[in-house]
This record gives sequence, structure tokens and C-alpha cells, in this order.
Amino acid sequence: MPSVIAVTGASGRIGGRVAERLAAQGEDVRLLGRNPARLPKIAGARVGPAAAYGDGEAMRTACTGAKTLFLVSAHESRGRVREHMTAVDAAVAAGVERLVYVSFLNAAPDATFTFARDHWHTEEYIRASNLRYTFLRDSFYLDSLPRMAGADGVIRGPGGAGRVSAVAHDDIADSAVGVLLGEGHDSATYDLTGPSAITLAEAADELTLITGRTISYVTESEDEAYASRSVYGAESWEVAGWVTSYEAIASGEMATVSDSVPKLAGHPAQSFAQFLRENPESYAHLIP
Ligand SMILES: NC(=O)c1ccc[n+]([C@@H]2O[C@H](COP(=O)([O-])OP(=O)(O)OC[C@H]3O[C@@H](n4cnc5c(N)ncnc54)[C@H](OP(=O)(O)O)[C@@H]3O)[C@@H](O)[C@H]2O)c1
Repeated sequence: MPSVIAVTGASGRIGGRVAERLAAQGEDVRLLGRNPARLPKIAGARVGPAAAYGDGEAMRTACTGAKTLFLVSAHESRGRVREHMTAVDAAVAAGVERLVYVSFLNAAPDATFTFARDHWHTEEYIRASNLRYTFLRDSFYLDSLPRMAGADGVIRGPGGAGRVSAVAHDDIADSAVGVLLGEGHDSATYDLTGPSAITLAEAADELTLITGRTISYVTESEDEAYASRSVYGAESWEVAGWVTSYEAIASGEMATVSDSVPKLAGHPAQSFAQFLRENPESYAHLIP
């Protein structure tokens, strides 16, 4: 009898893929999310009770009986670290033994990308728990690159000439399954990246090739970046996350390339060009 693996974020792109793959291999998977109505229908997987990370009691109930918890990070918010801490405490209280957390590349307390700091604080909290743990530090998602281009076909941001080793959701999910079903991953931290790191100008060139429309990259100063994003009326912490995501590319913090995807997933990581060829919906908004 396989032991229960509880998969959070199962209504989302990473968690959904992981749950699907585990269920296809006959694992006993419990799908978790804040709203069971949003969870996918996966043959062989069971649906757990609704649980937001910040609701300790609901999370404890949702995790009870599970030996392993796959923890996808919460949507960004001011209180995200606190939510993660509550979820970790609930997992411990429920008797979970092992936690696999989806963190972020080069997570650090002073990471340029402000949202990456949340991941470092969450990792620290998990390290201090009595759980067996593995951290999967993924790079930016490959599908976020086409979305950087506006309706005018221009990627604008303070990314300078820096490089980003963006990675596909499918590769993260395959790697996560390798860890969840494998041995010897306790206390390990894996950087999950694409096969190379590209500049935003190179990303624009790939988009030009595939769309047949000129897509360009214009580097902004920090002041220009804050000004161009002020029109959205978002809160300052959120705008800082958007702007610093580009600044992390400029700083070199997103240029790390690792061989963890091939090692854990058992196949090469997808390049941006390959991703675009296989996922035409990712750039459909750029085609007039
Ligand atoms: N590496 C990157 O480029 C990048 C980019 C964007 C975000 N991220 C981070 O990576 C995470 C996973 O990415 P993804 O593509 O799978 O995102 P996604 O498709 O938006 O899915 C996020 C999942 O997390 C769940 N969730 C969010 N906040 C929660 C909370 N407070 N409590 C419980 N469940 C919560 C959502 O469930 P519900 O059905 O309850 O909403 C959803 O299933 C994101 O949540 C974000 O933290 C990374």
C-alpha cells in the first residue's frame, strides 16, 4: 500500500501536474486546495478538505493521514511567509514526516527579487522543524517570458543584459515526482532551471521567430520601471515584486544553470525555443 502524498496547489499548474503524474504511477494522492470545486478530476486521486495555508486547523485536518506533503508556495501577498509557517506547523501537528517545498532560485534574505526573500524565510522555518525536507528552487517559468511582452510587442523592464535560466512547468513537475518517489533527497536543495540562460533580447528574438512579428526588448531604468507600472494601481509590495523580478535578471541572480532537471526528471530540460514550439498558446496574445 503506497502511503498518502498530499499535494497542495493541486488546482494550479505545478501542483496539478505533480498530482496527475503521481496518480498515473499508482500513488495514493490527496488533492488539496482552498476550494475543492477548483480541483482537477484526476483518476485515482482523492480530494481533501478545503484548506488555505493560513488556516492552521483546516491545514492540519487536510494533512492528517499523509506521510508526505508537497507544498507549493502561496500566491504572493504581504503575509505569505506567515501563511507558509502556519502550513508547516499544521503539517507537523498532523504527523506528516516529509515535506517537499517549491522554493525559488537563489532564495536569500537579501535577494534582489523581493518575492524570493519569502522563500528563504520559509526554507529557514522548514529547516528548523523536525520534518524531513527537500527544496526545489525553480527559476522563472518559461511561460512568463512571452507574457513580459506588451500588446505593442515590446518587453520593457530593468533587466539590463542579464540572463534568465527559465524553466518549464512540466520539467518542474517531472523533477518533483523524481524527488517524491525517489530516495536520498533529504536535506537537499535542487535548482530547477532550463538548459541555458538567455537574455531578454534573446527571448525577444525567439518570440520574433515564432510569431513572425517583431518583438523587441527595451531596458528601463528602475525609475522608469516603477513609473510605467504605476498605472495599474497595485500596492507597493506587489509593484516592487514586478520591478525586482527584472532587476534579479540584471543582477545575475537568475543566470544559474543546473543539471538537476535532467538528473531528477530523467530527460533534458526544455529550452525556450522548444517550449514555444510545443506551447503555441503561450504567445497567442502576441499574434495580431
Ligand atoms: N517561478 C515563477 O516564475 C513563479 C511565477 C509566479 C508564481 N510563482 C509561485 O509559484 C507558485 C506555484 O506556481 P503555479 O504556476 O502552480 O501557480 P498557480 O497555477 O497560480 O497555482 C497556485 C496554487 O496554489 C494554491 N494557493 C495559492 N495561495 C494559496 C494559499 N494561501 N493557501 C492554499 N493554497 C494556495 C492555489 O489554489 P487555489 O485553488 O486555492 O487558488 C493554486 O492551486 C505560485 O503560487 C507562486 O507562489 C512562481
